[in-house]
Amino acid sequence: MSKTTLTTSAGAPVADDNNSISVGNRGPLTFDNHYLFEKLAHFNRERIPERVVHARGTAAYGTFTVTKSLKDHTIADFLQEVGQQTEVFLRFSTVGGGQDSSDYARDPRGFSVKFYTKEGNWDMVGNNTPVFFLNDPIKFPDFIHSQKKDPRTNLPNPANAFEFWANHPQSLHQMTILMSDRGIPLSYRHVHGFSSHTLSFYNAKGERFWCKWHFKTNQGIKTLTNDEAAKMPAFGAQQDLVNAIDRGEFPSWKVEVQIMTEDEAKNYHINPFDLTKIWPYKDFPVIEIGRLELNKNVNNYFAETEQVAFAPSNFVPGIAASPDKMLQGRLLAYQDAHRYRIGANYNQIPVNAPKCPVNHYQRDGAFAGTGCPVGHSSGEANYTNAASHIAASNFYPNDRAADGAPVPTPRVAAPPMPVLESAWIGYHSQDEEDYYTQAGDLFRIMNDDQKAQLFGNIAGGLSQANESIQQRMLAIFAKADPAYSAGVAKALGL
Ligand code: HEM
Repeated sequence: MSKTTLTTSAGAPVADDNNSISVGNRGPLTFDNHYLFEKLAHFNRERIPERVVHARGTAAYGTFTVTKSLKDHTIADFLQEVGQQTEVFLRFSTVGGGQDSSDYARDPRGFSVKFYTKEGNWDMVGNNTPVFFLNDPIKFPDFIHSQKKDPRTNLPNPANAFEFWANHPQSLHQMTILMSDRGIPLSYRHVHGFSSHTLSFYNAKGERFWCKWHFKTNQGIKTLTNDEAAKMPAFGAQQDLVNAIDRGEFPSWKVEVQIMTEDEAKNYHINPFDLTKIWPYKDFPVIEIGRLELNKNVNNYFAETEQVAFAPSNFVPGIAASPDKMLQGRLLAYQDAHRYRIGANYNQIPVNAPKCPVNHYQRDGAFAGTGCPVGHSSGEANYTNAASHIAASNFYPNDRAADGAPVPTPRVAAPPMPVLESAWIGYHSQDEEDYYTQAGDLFRIMNDDQKAQLFGNIAGGLSQANESIQQRMLAIFAKADPAYSAGVAKALGL
């Protein structure tokens, strides 16, 4: 006999969970089956919309430890002292597939880290690649549509993907990484993570520095070929991570940053805010600043991994945005997605709730709780203690600062963002950017086997596109390196 009483969701003991109440053995059910109705109604509501991208993922908790202070560059509270530790939650994902798609798609891997700092949550929502397919957010829905299933057949359609790429040379660098031998990671433990975007640090003197974040796997990069991936169980990467952590084999990453001053950015020959480009290490060497380890699995996949809400706009004092156009688009997109997917009070769910006091004047909405961290918005403002409701206020400014009403902190303001002198507001085409040199450089450091894999992987999909698309892709490859184009042409049998 169990010591635990089965109850309704309102806490009342349940008499029978095997039989509905009915009129005799052979008769219909009656209207007093309220427990049955509750059970069926809740079941109907078990799903929330899956993420429109990065739907398939897995996550774990861990620890970030500072190994080099960044005090000179940033006031970020969690980056000040060597040895300082911050709890993190890291979600890995594939991009294009649905919740139950395979872990072994040839697809970038999402690498999202939530740092629960003492001054709020900082979310680093990156990928396992240092660049992206695009440099203007207006193209994002088109790009994703071209990679997802075809709207008529609901089947994968590589011709659509190449049709997009043939019209967007800006995708060449990231596409070359995707089609290379690195395109299918063996597991989430064997990927790097990158902010990809340029972000910024600012210090106590109000100086701003541009920076990029890199997380280098201590497990080493390990990848699969298409044939090897086809033999893997669909959810193998998720199982690999869960099992490794359960065994006490905690995966870890070396954390590095690249830093560029505002003056260096002005004169640098590469646009430092173009997400299709890296900053070569020889110009901006990586600086090791920490170690990230994953050491605890989730208890409830839905509550934690499915409901976690990462947002590139979740900055903390000392870390801010950059003029990167793609980043700017993402600053809006994610919170909007969270409100749709989870609801207005998504930050009150434990996995999203900051581990520091939360005080604001936002109120109410679906599922607003009471009492920190699950609620700062019902009958009382959350800065009151239970005994002094008199001090509560739901508006700012007010006359109650002395009673503990929250007030802004001017010292955390980011320095003004520089813009180009005499910049004009309008549609600015980026078609004249150089999208070929870095892709060509990557191609040229590949060995023969890697090049052969690249040609074969591209030809696999490109062979399904029409001749016009093939010819335009070959012209794009040729601008990166004639041997790149020739190799793909040969693999296509042209
Ligand atoms: C303008 C361009 C982009 C838009 C509009 C966009 C939009 C979105 C949206 C709506 C989601 C789902 C969020 C949710 O429901 O919780 C998402 C997830 C994600 N995106 Fe983006 N995205 C963009 C570019 C990027 C880039 C450049 C990266 C990487 C450098 C990236 C990495 C991710 C990751 C890792 C996730 C999964 C977050 C998680 O684990 O919950 N996205 N994106």
